[in-house]
Amino acid sequence: MQEIIRELEEKRNAARLGGGQERIDGQHGKGKLTARERIQLLLDDGSFEEWDMFVEHRCVDFGMADHRIPGDGVVTGYGTINGRVVFVFSQDFTVFGGSLSEAHAEKICKIMDQAIKVGAPVIGLNDSGGARIQEGVASLGGYADVFQRNVLASGVIPQISMIMGPCAGGAVYSPAMTDFIFMVLDSSYMFVTGPDVVKTVTHEEVTAEELGGGITHSTKSGVSDLALANDIEALLSLRQFFDYLPANNNEPPPVWPTSDPMDRVEPSLDSLVPTDPNMPYDMKELITKVADENSFFELQPDYAKNIVVGFVRMEGSTVGVVANQPMVLAGCLDIDSSIKAGRFVRFCDAFNIPVLTFVDVPGFMPGTAQEYGGIIKHGAKLLYAFAEATVPKVTVITRKAYGGAYDVMSSKHLRGDVNFAWPSAEIAVMGPKGAVEIIFRKDIGDDEKITARTEEYRRKFANPFIVGRRGFIDDVIMPRDTRLRICHSLSMLKDKKLENPWRKHGNIPL
Ligand code: HXC
Repeated sequence: MQEIIRELEEKRNAARLGGGQERIDGQHGKGKLTARERIQLLLDDGSFEEWDMFVEHRCVDFGMADHRIPGDGVVTGYGTINGRVVFVFSQDFTVFGGSLSEAHAEKICKIMDQAIKVGAPVIGLNDSGGARIQEGVASLGGYADVFQRNVLASGVIPQISMIMGPCAGGAVYSPAMTDFIFMVLDSSYMFVTGPDVVKTVTHEEVTAEELGGGITHSTKSGVSDLALANDIEALLSLRQFFDYLPANNNEPPPVWPTSDPMDRVEPSLDSLVPTDPNMPYDMKELITKVADENSFFELQPDYAKNIVVGFVRMEGSTVGVVANQPMVLAGCLDIDSSIKAGRFVRFCDAFNIPVLTFVDVPGFMPGTAQEYGGIIKHGAKLLYAFAEATVPKVTVITRKAYGGAYDVMSSKHLRGDVNFAWPSAEIAVMGPKGAVEIIFRKDIGDDEKITARTEEYRRKFANPFIVGRRGFIDDVIMPRDTRLRICHSLSMLKDKKLENPWRKHGNIPL
């Protein structure tokens, strides 16, 4: 018995030391924390229950039989974040470069299976050189086993990936199938093929950072939802973010105490929309003033900035926000913004999170780049997502709601539950100038006539009453009362029940 206890301690110490002090120092030297330090920072103190600390690889080739480290390069288990259960795996770069062996994959699959059974989210901390080269195809099978679970867990439990080191080749597809990807700047990268292959095939010279670093994926590709400065900031942000998410698709989102009164009036919002319809204003000001104090957690803030998405709390409950941003491209919908918002709306819908939509949209972005890029198909994604969503949907039109984009942005016709307009709302098939140039084409050149016609069109449509008369909006509200009216609406919608017809799955335009 004494012998077994001694051996147990030895194995535990070996597992804790991973690839050894020298490699741990190397990890620290690169400004990175170790796999265990990361878990410690992510989870509540003392809450981590580690599983499979004694698992070892089964490879005997290339001298691997004599080279086994308990845990095999990934620390797995569960713990809590602010008291709520979460399953975690954290790849240990000090052990065979965090590479994924068959046994390593089995450990990840085990916690994923358990997380699905108990209905708790999974967080993956990725730091890996990819497939364990010595194991060959066994490792590829391991990846596929993880992918399969990513897909089965999708829409059942939230899955979050934090990329904290290399993540390359086919390995990127596990994070890609999770709900959110956060990256650490300067120390992480993701790409399907690395700079050397790129150079051989396309003759482009590019660094790993340029090809797949945090800046690239949070500004150019939209693969990453957030890029954080370092491991510590990243893990603390992740803790904060986790608090917005329900544990699974059968639970309501969490409610956290707030001291912000629901009837807080914001007189400054009455002058947010400029009198000149072509002047921009910052939609984020509206979001922060309407939401519970300090509760706005924006996602993809530097990608497709013409639309804003993120979570807020209203009376302490999580709400997903989608808002056109008039500061960028006048708030037009284009390919990137449609995909960004469409995916976000679908996450909210899958996890019972109400969607709050702020609309100021002059239409879809014109141009060959958009048409050739497939705006028809991609714009349809956002339309599909809003139309499919059965969660509570509250919409506020602050200014422009033109053309097809009016329909798309959670309109009444797409089962919007409560649709408000501010007095500054203009809901029309298109803007006054474009409209007049089409229907009064013969008057072009006669500035006086065109001005008069434009004014006539504006008077007719640049107000919320035409749609109000048809019931397309439920009320015209004063901007200062927006928070109160949204809180009333969400409270009324708390027990909303709506189901789509049975089907295996819909066919969203991919
Ligand atoms: C086994 C690996 C490894 C791997 C790294 N190591 N990658 N061991 N399998 N895939 C080991 C190294 O031998 C080294 O061991 C230690 O990890 C640290 O690696 P270094 O190269 O010293 O570190 P660094 O300079 O920081 O470079 C990191 C790296 C590089 C960029 C990730 O190691 C690298 O390019 N690795 C190979 C990447 C790769 O080609 N992977 C397979 C891709 S194919 P010692 O003992 O010296 O500390 C793939 C397919 C997945 O992943 C398909 C899924 C469908």
